[in-house]
Amino acid sequence: MEIEKTLILVKPDGVQRGLIGEIISRYERKGLTLIGLKLVQLSRAKAEELYEVHLGQPFYDKLIDFMTTTPIVAIGVEGKNAIQLARLINGATDPLESEPGSIRGDYSTDITENLVHASDCLENAKRELSILFSPQELC
Ligand code: CMP
Repeated sequence: MEIEKTLILVKPDGVQRGLIGEIISRYERKGLTLIGLKLVQLSRAKAEELYEVHLGQPFYDKLIDFMTTTPIVAIGVEGKNAIQLARLINGATDPLESEPGSIRGDYSTDITENLVHASDCLENAKRELSILFSPQELC
C-alpha cells in the first residue's frame, strides 16, 4: 500500500471540550505522521466547499452552522493506509455505532457534534487538504 496523506479536523466541540491533545495523540500513537497543523476559524465559504457533497441533506445547514461557530484544528497526516486508519480511529458517525476505543465511541453522543472529521477517499483527501492548507504549509 502506498503512503497516503489525509485531512483530519478537530471540530468546534473537540476544541471547546479541551480534547485537542487527546485527539491528536490517538493518530500519533497509531504511527501516523503529522504533516500540517493549525487552529482555524472556518469561514462559511470554506465549510460549504468542504461539505459540498452533503448539500441538500437535512442536516446540512446545522452542520455548516456548527462548523463555523468557533475555531477548529486542521491536521494533515501521512502514513500507510492513513485514510482508512484515520476513519477507524475516529469511529462511526452515528454515536450508537461508534465502537468504544474510537474517539467518537469514547467521547461523543451526538451525530453532528461528533468531535472529528477525516477524509473518506484519496480524491477527497487531496481536495480537502487543499481547502485547509496551502502547499507551503504541509511538510
Ligand atoms: P463528518 O465525518 O464530518 O462528515 C459529515 C458530517 O455531517 C458528519 O461528520 C456529521 O457531523 C454530520 N452528519 C452526518 N450524518 C448526519 C446525520 N444523519 N444527522 C446529522 N448530522 C450528520
